[in-house]
Amino acid sequence: MIRVNGVLHDVKNEDPLMSLAEYLRSVLHLCGTKTMCHEGGCGCCVVVLEYDNPTKPEKRIIKSMNSCLFPIGSLLSLKNHQVVTIEALGSMKKGLHPIQQRLADYNGSQCGFCSPGFVMQMFGLLKNKPSPSFQDVEDNFDGNVCRCTGYRSILDAMKSFVKSTDTKLRGSFIDIEDMMSCPKIRRPSTRSSLGEIASSTSPAEGTTSMLFSKDGLKWYQPTELTQLYLLMQEHSSEAVKLVHGDTAKGVYKKDGPYQVLIDVKGIPDLYKVTMGPNGLKVFSNVTLSSLIGYLKQYSDQSLSYNVIARHLLKVANGPVRNAGGWAGNLMMKWKHHEFVSDVFVAFEVAGAKLTVGDITELNTYTPVQFLDVNMNGKVLLCVEIPKLAESERMNSYKIMPRMQNAHTYVSAGFRVQLKALDKKQLVESISMVYTGINETFIHAVATEKYLQGKDITANATLQGALTTLDKEIIPDEDNPLLASAEYRKSLALGLFYKFFLSLLSEGVVSPCNRSATCSLERPVSTGEQTFSSKPEEYPLTKPMPKLSAYKQVLKASDIPGCNTFMPPPYEAEEILSSGPVLYAGQPIALCIADSQHHALEMVEVVKVTYQDQQPPIVTLDEAIEKKSFYPSPGKGLLVGHPEDAISESPCKIEGEVRAGEQYHFHMETQICRCMPTEDGLDVQAASQWLDLAQQAIACAIGIPATDINISAKRLGGAYGGKATRASLVACGAAVAATVLCRPVRCIMDLSTNMKAVGKRHSYIFKYKVGFNEDGKLNGIIITYYADNGCSPNDNEVGESLVFSDNGSLPNIFVIETILEHVAKFLNLDPIAVKQKNLYVQGDITPLGFNLPYCSIRDLYSIQLEKVDVAGRLQAIKKFNADNRWKKKGLAVVPLKYGLYWSESYYLCTVSIFASDGSVMISQGGIESGQGLDTKVAQVCAYALGIPVNSISIKPTTTISSPNSGPTGGSMTSELNCLGVKNCCEILKKRMDPVKDTLPPGTPWKDLVAACFKAKVNLTAQYWVWPDAQPKRAPQYNSYGVTVAEADLDVLTGENQISQVDILFDCGESMNPDIDIGQVEGAFVMGMGYWLLEKMIYDPKTGEVLNAGTWDYKPPFSKSIPINFNIELLKNAPNPMGVLRSKASGEPPQCMSCATLFAVKHAIEAARQDVGKDTYFPLSGPATVDVIQSSCLVDYKHFSI
Ligand SMILES: Cc1cc2nc3c(=O)[nH]c(=O)nc-3n(C[C@H](O)[C@H](O)[C@H](O)COP(=O)(O)OP(=O)(O)OC[C@H]3O[C@@H](n4cnc5c(N)ncnc54)[C@H](O)[C@@H]3O)c2cc1C
Ligand code: FES
Ligand code: FES
Repeated sequence: MIRVNGVLHDVKNEDPLMSLAEYLRSVLHLCGTKTMCHEGGCGCCVVVLEYDNPTKPEKRIIKSMNSCLFPIGSLLSLKNHQVVTIEALGSMKKGLHPIQQRLADYNGSQCGFCSPGFVMQMFGLLKNKPSPSFQDVEDNFDGNVCRCTGYRSILDAMKSFVKSTDTKLRGSFIDIEDMMSCPKIRRPSTRSSLGEIASSTSPAEGTTSMLFSKDGLKWYQPTELTQLYLLMQEHSSEAVKLVHGDTAKGVYKKDGPYQVLIDVKGIPDLYKVTMGPNGLKVFSNVTLSSLIGYLKQYSDQSLSYNVIARHLLKVANGPVRNAGGWAGNLMMKWKHHEFVSDVFVAFEVAGAKLTVGDITELNTYTPVQFLDVNMNGKVLLCVEIPKLAESERMNSYKIMPRMQNAHTYVSAGFRVQLKALDKKQLVESISMVYTGINETFIHAVATEKYLQGKDITANATLQGALTTLDKEIIPDEDNPLLASAEYRKSLALGLFYKFFLSLLSEGVVSPCNRSATCSLERPVSTGEQTFSSKPEEYPLTKPMPKLSAYKQVLKASDIPGCNTFMPPPYEAEEILSSGPVLYAGQPIALCIADSQHHALEMVEVVKVTYQDQQPPIVTLDEAIEKKSFYPSPGKGLLVGHPEDAISESPCKIEGEVRAGEQYHFHMETQICRCMPTEDGLDVQAASQWLDLAQQAIACAIGIPATDINISAKRLGGAYGGKATRASLVACGAAVAATVLCRPVRCIMDLSTNMKAVGKRHSYIFKYKVGFNEDGKLNGIIITYYADNGCSPNDNEVGESLVFSDNGSLPNIFVIETILEHVAKFLNLDPIAVKQKNLYVQGDITPLGFNLPYCSIRDLYSIQLEKVDVAGRLQAIKKFNADNRWKKKGLAVVPLKYGLYWSESYYLCTVSIFASDGSVMISQGGIESGQGLDTKVAQVCAYALGIPVNSISIKPTTTISSPNSGPTGGSMTSELNCLGVKNCCEILKKRMDPVKDTLPPGTPWKDLVAACFKAKVNLTAQYWVWPDAQPKRAPQYNSYGVTVAEADLDVLTGENQISQVDILFDCGESMNPDIDIGQVEGAFVMGMGYWLLEKMIYDPKTGEVLNAGTWDYKPPFSKSIPINFNIELLKNAPNPMGVLRSKASGEPPQCMSCATLFAVKHAIEAARQDVGKDTYFPLSGPATVDVIQSSCLVDYKHFSI
């Protein structure tokens, strides 16, 4: 029996290996717990687990963990366990839990898919630490991804539980009273309290430990160590796996198959921890989180304990460390020597001893020796971590692609014993441990030997050690997933240099070089959001939170109609390949089973053989070289005579820069549910474009569009990824449901989604520019190469795909690059050069559009002054001169962004119910986190003069809003608001004659009843499809200015954005909370594009190699600017917008390249120090390795 939210469930007929997440969702139908990556990397599946502490039964262990990794069988070894899911906390029906309430109040939930994971993670923290600090809260979310919000609002919501009066750190929307009233967690209102657990859930002690035996798989649950040893001996000829946290499968997914599983969590002896004269002894069931706790507890006993604790805090993320143990981690290294284990580095450098046992003997090894031990039939029993001698010093470093929850590129640990002699410091012994160099390189043996007896205060010692290290470090080169060999080698040398300098006293090291020793410190983040609103128009402009056992394989030949998910007039794209395969990852068959788990198992056994394989074209360079262009790439845009303008200009430059791809990373992957009904198919599609999905299904099944009813309540994120691609999954589900005559849910797992569906296009830009000595541009020629993937479908399909700001984001980047290049060429300040080239009110754009309302020059000056750019630049200059190995940079990016309405069309309906006056809206756009439903409700409430809570927004359907266009381009909210506003005006016009007959102040309900009696039609529809502006000009332009400042560690390339200030013209914001959330979310997604997210393909097959959270790194909560300030321009009504507003989603994203340029300026400062202060291009994504190599770090420049 297992207990979930106070209720016992019998699991004897379930597969013990089924993940807890799947059990909760598919068997118990507790779908509040979400799943996405199934590998511990995204956090949306977090639940809280409670059980008796095996060594102190009177104490309960309470922790958050990833339910996607935890097998249900494993629960049975935890005494009096209890799983707590989001359903136990609260819901809209039974009332929200304070954490949920705060998240909503702070607008920390947009699409909402990540929200349960964040809430449960916070619940776990508060259960263990009812009074957390700000730092505790910020550190708590290193395992949770949110792709929508930009994290600031989530962190503010969670920080509101900190008892502090520091309003700066708590965010600006705090309600002190609210915070004081509920610091503690409410117990769930389920049948029993979470503490009272029936003892029937305990394992039966002393009896046989066999729990399951099914399909040749045996599952044991011993409760004593000897029982475990006997089982290991008995099954030594079989494939045995010990199950502790079972998190290793998040990294090595295809380990196994196993015949015997032995769950070790029921053995109390394996939880022991003792502190003795030889050090800290910890047994193998101690999780990484607990180990960190013990190391901190005993940190007064040895200086090394804090170092190890700090290092282990960089392993994985909170929920994984809560479930996973140090022993499992070392066993991963034992099995896969290439595994970059941080635990291994920390233990080896600390001189830890590992004890391995079996039924006959116990043996002790160093971690290095342990790698060669035959572990068959053996158990890793405990580790003893010695205390550091007084004359010893130790430190460790981990450099990773992202500052949180990322595997290591290079980890290093150093421990040295020094002896003072006269003024010298002689090395008595040294241990230098590395991981990430190659499979076998662990100790830098030659350098260790070289340093023996040397004086570390001599520059010659440093140089000698570096030269030796340089020779012996030979990194692997052939794994495209690793950072470059050059970078890893440079890191290895740089990290040693950091340690070396840290050993020397203040007077010995030059002040400039001291900056090498410290790491970048990230203080608790802060931010201000500034906006104005008009109370007289409430609820409009009011900042408010959002409302809201078949097994079968189907092939192309099983599709009853046309095999395309892009119906005419689009270029056909096959649902399932009928033969030719155009790209690695293209769907070729559909596995259908009774559960997702079984369907995924089926996928693994499908074998595909390919014939006539052609070498793929993977990169843009290859495509250009092979002239693989689509026949009509467009006419290009020619304005004036650029060649002449350039040749007649006094100054000219040429250059090239690139922008990479980006995966959408919507937390809800592609998904569709389809049910055959008597009049066709009912489809719930996670699609931004229901109309297209309807046409595509009609075409694939060969039935009229009227037989297909499609609806979507909301999407768990989309960002363009569900515009056309959602039709692929919808067609798959519809075909399966039709062929099998039963409901089918089709869901792509993350890896399939990343491989099958295109990304943001990558670009190469080649430019020629002519300009004056003052930086004023005269002529530009830019040649664009865009990777359109394998289908020309108007930029929207194939291997490359529409993405929010598909064209503008890289286009604004190339212009910014050109201006930076011009400034460098002229040795001018790029901020001034940009200012010189800004539009002026009344200007005509290159496309021939007039700019009657252009405010960019004013915004630019206001923002530079407001955030003291001049003063900060001075301070940065001084800092950079004083510090050789840490640099700072600042960049400014202005924005003009045209919003086009004429391609968008939506049908909106507003119905007033005669019975009670409540109002129902159905609109043509899809709520996907952008706050569409809320804004529409606010407009309706404002227009009809009724409260927002009397309005209900219905799911978007093809029944009520047929022929509606795709949601995207940021204007869907305003156009549906326009549609609803017009519906309301129609209704008011119809109702006014009746109203005039009633006394003034007649309540709305009575007015509606009177209208009904008077036979007034209380439903109105409005079809929004704005006409194009003259010359196809935008409806209006958005303006903004962003100032970004960055810190850089030159030796490692690690960087952080210390401050971002955005001034954005959002017109008269309909809902400042939502618009600020949109600005933050879009900007942080853009930061991911420029600084973190890199797609890696197999050069031989074109397959995506980093299709998962282990290798693909979107921003996390500590990737956001440390100080993140946003101001919505005040008093800026937009005469061309709906109710004077402007769009907020995509435009601000285009300013996110300011973060890349801020880092670039920091790099320039580093290059100045080596006399290379010339222009260099910095393409996106500028990942840590790219940044570090741009700094031109050479160990020969290292000195004391
Ligand atoms: C998302 C994610 C991120 C991660 N990031 C990092 C990282 O940054 N750095 C890093 O170093 N690691 C990282 N890891 C690895 C993580 O530390 C390990 O998954 C975890 O420590 C394994 O412990 P476990 O208890 O879950 O082992 P399990 O998964 O239960 O077991 C793993 C293996 O160890 C064996 N085993 C377990 N206990 C014993 C024992 N007592 N004796 C003998 N064999 C045993 C099992 O048979 C199995 O083969 C990450 C993992 C995930 C999922
Ligand atoms: S689904 Fe569990 S961490 Fe992503
Ligand atoms: S609200 Fe976090 S992923 Fe959408």
